[in-house]
Amino acid sequence: MEFTLTTTCSREIETPAFAMLCFSDEPPSEETAGGVLKEMFTSGEFTGKANETAVVHRPSGMKAQRLLLVGCGEKAKFTPAQMRLAGGVMARALQSRSIQQAAIRLKRLTNEPAMLRALVEGLIAGGFEPDHYKTEKKNGGKRLERVEISCIEITPEMESALETARIVGEAQNWTRALVSEPGNVLTPRALADRARAMAEECGLECEILDEPRMRQLGFNTLLGVAQGSAEPPVMILLRYRPANPASTDHLALVGKGVTFDTGGISIKPSDGMEKMKYDMAGAAAVLGAMRAVARLKPPVAVTACAPCVENMPGAKAQRPGDIVKTFQGKTVEVLNTDAEGRLILADALTYVARQGATHIVDAATLTGAIAVALGHLYAGAFSNDNIWQQRVLEAAKDAGERIWHFPMDADYSEQLKTPFADLANIGSRWGGSITAAKFLEEFVEGKPWVHLDIAGVAWLEEAKPWMAKGPTGFAVRTFVELARGWAGSR
Ligand code: BES
Ligand code: MN
Ligand code: ZN
Repeated sequence: MEFTLTTTCSREIETPAFAMLCFSDEPPSEETAGGVLKEMFTSGEFTGKANETAVVHRPSGMKAQRLLLVGCGEKAKFTPAQMRLAGGVMARALQSRSIQQAAIRLKRLTNEPAMLRALVEGLIAGGFEPDHYKTEKKNGGKRLERVEISCIEITPEMESALETARIVGEAQNWTRALVSEPGNVLTPRALADRARAMAEECGLECEILDEPRMRQLGFNTLLGVAQGSAEPPVMILLRYRPANPASTDHLALVGKGVTFDTGGISIKPSDGMEKMKYDMAGAAAVLGAMRAVARLKPPVAVTACAPCVENMPGAKAQRPGDIVKTFQGKTVEVLNTDAEGRLILADALTYVARQGATHIVDAATLTGAIAVALGHLYAGAFSNDNIWQQRVLEAAKDAGERIWHFPMDADYSEQLKTPFADLANIGSRWGGSITAAKFLEEFVEGKPWVHLDIAGVAWLEEAKPWMAKGPTGFAVRTFVELARGWAGSR
């Protein structure tokens, strides 16, 4: 999707579709489009409620061929988060009508960098369709290609907001495309190939640890999960090093990369199992974030680490009751082979901690329990360091991703005790997302760490007016914001 910034006034813009943001508590004036809008409002055909759209052809007094009305709700409640949704609604309304070019004008309220950024991110996200494997694309595959954004004044701040939004939006969609790949295509090695290709394109250092190397290092918990599959595991490492670092800080982004999760011997019910291709959404998010980091060049060193395996119940699969020794040294009794995410992350977290990470954040589709607790709107945050967690939550807020933090009291770890090893890999039914996080905490070597459980938010169960059904790319924006805002005291 291409964007241009102009200062042309609404009436003069020549475009197939001019989008107008309409508020429910601000009826349009008599002059707009020759009074048609006013009429639509009065008749109740268009009320300006959020997500509502309507199209008027040949609006009088305008050079645009069409006027697309996008409802935005109450004006006083219109934040960048709302703007992001409005952008998505706009893109999808246009695409569903096979319209490939459009324009929009930012006025008083919306003429600011944060709003522009949200609009562009929303447009890019709304334009994404996970139809790579469909022979007949929706609307003949016609996508929104060009958007003219007219604003009051083209300032350097507006230009840089546009550039950032484009990079972040594209990174999010790159992640979504990866997550929508099925398990037969996107094996751990295929995921490594995609990461390598992206790293080359963006100028990141890429290192892939293969199975023999991981055996040598002693990643036994990760290898234990992988042993039931014919597909060998990999660990993907991408490194970004700034030319002028603002500090000696080193941020590690760790992402769960289970390319398919059958549950292993503790096999999952077949109903809905097809969705377990998205069990690598954490890995895809950290890789997508690196793609944006490479382009935005924040002043902090960032390493992405994605442990990738397929969790299968093959003849060599690990059994419930198996005891494995982690890279860190503690032993784990695998009471349930479906709690595999924490096993592969354990070795990955220790590895990045020992590689010199000063701040760690991971994203993982770790537990179904997180959706029981928060539904599909918020991701859960779990941490051993309040200050670091606050920074992550702040970045999430700025990026427009909803994350809620959970308690991490020591007593939760009682559930992970077993007479046969240092730790069990599951707790009781209660507080399942917290016990999973307490398990991970054992492996971060005391480094400031935040775990994001994205199992409830990485996949959209049904299409929304602003986004297609399927992967959401959750956490990409938060990770990028975290790195971008690094300089100084934040
Ligand atoms: N990948 C799943 C978690 C998940 C569930 C992600 C639903 C997305 C949607 C994870 O590996 C898993 O199976 N977790 C188990 C843990 C349990 C065995 C302690 C779960 O949540 O049931
Ligand atoms: Mn599982
Ligand atoms: Zn899983």
